[in-house]
Amino acid sequence: MDQVLTGDCLRQLAEVPEGSVALAFADPPFNIGYEYDVYNDRKSRADYLAWTSSWLEAVRRVLKSDGSFYVAIGDEYVAELKVRLDALGLTMRNWIVWHYTFGVNCKRKFNRSHAHILYYVMDPKHYTFNAAAVRVPSARQTTYADRRANPVGKLPDDTWVLRPQEDESFFRADSDTWYVPRVCGTFKERTGHPCQMPEAVLERIVAVSSNPDDLVLDPFAGSGTTLAAAKRLGRRYLGIELSEEYAECVRQRLAEIGEQRKEA
Ligand SMILES: C[S@@+](CC[C@H](N)C(=O)[O-])C[C@H]1O[C@@H](n2cnc3c(N)ncnc32)[C@H](O)[C@@H]1O
Repeated sequence: MDQVLTGDCLRQLAEVPEGSVALAFADPPFNIGYEYDVYNDRKSRADYLAWTSSWLEAVRRVLKSDGSFYVAIGDEYVAELKVRLDALGLTMRNWIVWHYTFGVNCKRKFNRSHAHILYYVMDPKHYTFNAAAVRVPSARQTTYADRRANPVGKLPDDTWVLRPQEDESFFRADSDTWYVPRVCGTFKERTGHPCQMPEAVLERIVAVSSNPDDLVLDPFAGSGTTLAAAKRLGRRYLGIELSEEYAECVRQRLAEIGEQRKEA
């Protein structure tokens, strides 16, 4: 609890008690040739999919009966992941598309500007969904001054652009970017990990699909974004990361959140 373990997630997950995790978020390597420090992101399609089936199953084992499971994945393998998640007996709640700016520029196809986030639950009748924690102002309120607008706003759409009115921290006078961008090299939030996700995306997921003191798991911790969001929101957390170097950076990131809390 409240730590990041170094090593292979399959081996580490085998030590996690069955049915103990309220929320799992997995952002695995996409098998598109990213440069990680120890992981090789160019496996054969068959090897990648066999490995994917193993870790999906391993995460499912540790989920509570009312748990939720989010998986981020690129276009190349999203269809295969959906088929495998369905086969595990989980129920899809949303196929979220996260649209970002500052994507990878391509030369002979359109630029990459989205990732898929498959949102599943163990039991569609019993699962945590804290609607009030993630409501956003509706266009009826912000644009049309419509008296029929629900005064508490609306639930976000399943295409996540996280517009400024949905997250004030991303609307700054000096910025022309209105959508949550990828975390690029010059950003203050950036830790140095090649595929760091923005905390705004993880904060929404942790806020809506877990409660304070619930255990949040990330089997591919990377720079520790999920764990940082979980810690800020008062959840317990467990991360697993293959690279000792990345895991050490995560520990520092989490310790800094502890320091900020003490100062506040
Ligand atoms: C896409 S990145 C995750 C980024 C993370 N979501 C973030 O916001 O920083 C995938 C991570 O999985 C790690 N990884 C690869 N194979 C692994 C394995 N078998 N067990 C645990 N971690 C692994 C890589 O080292 C990499 O840091």
